[in-house]
Amino acid sequence: MNDDMLTASAVKADPEKWPFTPHVISLETSIIREILKISSKPGVISLAGGYPSPEMFPLEDLKQSAIDVIDEFQSASAQYSFSMGIPVLREAIAERETKLGAPTKTENILITSGSQQGIELCARAFIDPGEYIITEYPTYVGALQAFDFYQAQYAMVDMDQDGMLVDQVEDAIKKYKPKLIYTVSTFQNPTGITMSEERKRALVEIAVKYGIPIVDDNPYGELRFAGEHVATMKDVGGDAVISLGTFSKIIAPGLRVGWMNCSDKIIALFEKVKQCADLHANTFTQYMIYNYVRSGKLAAHIPEIIENYGAKRNLMLKEMDKHFPAGLSWTKPEGGLFLWIELPKSMSASELLPKAIEEKVTYVYGHPFFPDGKGDNTMRLNFSNASHEQISLAIERLGKVLKENMP
Ligand SMILES: Cc1ncc(COP(=O)(O)O)c(C=O)c1O
Repeated sequence: MNDDMLTASAVKADPEKWPFTPHVISLETSIIREILKISSKPGVISLAGGYPSPEMFPLEDLKQSAIDVIDEFQSASAQYSFSMGIPVLREAIAERETKLGAPTKTENILITSGSQQGIELCARAFIDPGEYIITEYPTYVGALQAFDFYQAQYAMVDMDQDGMLVDQVEDAIKKYKPKLIYTVSTFQNPTGITMSEERKRALVEIAVKYGIPIVDDNPYGELRFAGEHVATMKDVGGDAVISLGTFSKIIAPGLRVGWMNCSDKIIALFEKVKQCADLHANTFTQYMIYNYVRSGKLAAHIPEIIENYGAKRNLMLKEMDKHFPAGLSWTKPEGGLFLWIELPKSMSASELLPKAIEEKVTYVYGHPFFPDGKGDNTMRLNFSNASHEQISLAIERLGKVLKENMP
């Protein structure tokens, strides 16, 4: 194309005036993404993102897996494939789920583009504008973003150290007639809290009584580095539960492969919803993951991640004891990627952030995790991504900021 042709297109388009829906125009950018932009400045140590540790990505094995997949599966590895996902991977996931405690068949598994898509598909399948979802208070901000897109409203249930206060759920159901119960019941993002088995059983009972699905978003369940195993929501609830899994935190998030495990009676509905969304998940990375799982390498890799994150979590807690002022409380998660801090009520974690950035440390302030925007005296720290040296330095810096700003 030459310059003449460019100037010859006489009419000037103004895409900014195109008729986007009002709710798309009013969508907010993720605050976490904004904080992450600041975090990438030189010298700043980020405790903000939910990023796995890059040193834990099994790059050499993935490289070999990519080659092996092309050799073995040839053009099928690059072709369109099933909306449900490639059968060999679905079967491998069903076997893993069964081994982990929830008897699962291949027909129960639908491969998604990360568990974020599982959340999105649930919102698409169940939510009309104005309808309610029961969530923990606080809850995963990415789920709120997905649900907000469908103009959901929230019935928020408080938590304690054993997870959602299930006693509040029945009243919330009667009052709001919710379409879904959404929970991150193991090593929750943002708090790191795990719901007790007793609460899970009680929640399943209520959900079944009122015919409402429980969506258990479980990206962290296999990353336990302390305490005793707790049965998952899917283990205790079976068909009452749609569980969402992902390879993001046990292999690498950029591969964008997760799964939904739900009753075979309704999975065909999700297959159609998935087809509308993106036809199918990435064929090539599904094969790569299948190859990696089949070789036994994933099973050997998970204990390495657990050891790495467990050591970082221990270090962070030790440094917090040393550097943080009295008057704060925080969770001591037994797995996952995050811990959660409560500051005195009169303090604002969002107002504190610019001061922390001056000291070259970032975190995510808590209020975006509360559907009603409260909770500004809270913050989330990630311990998986930074190195040991960075964690020590970051906590010392944050401790200084906190001490200087205590009421
Ligand atoms: C609770 C929760 N659900 C879902 C996701 C999205 O993960 P994925 O990469 O599998 O889409 C995250 C990512 O941090 C998360 O914390």
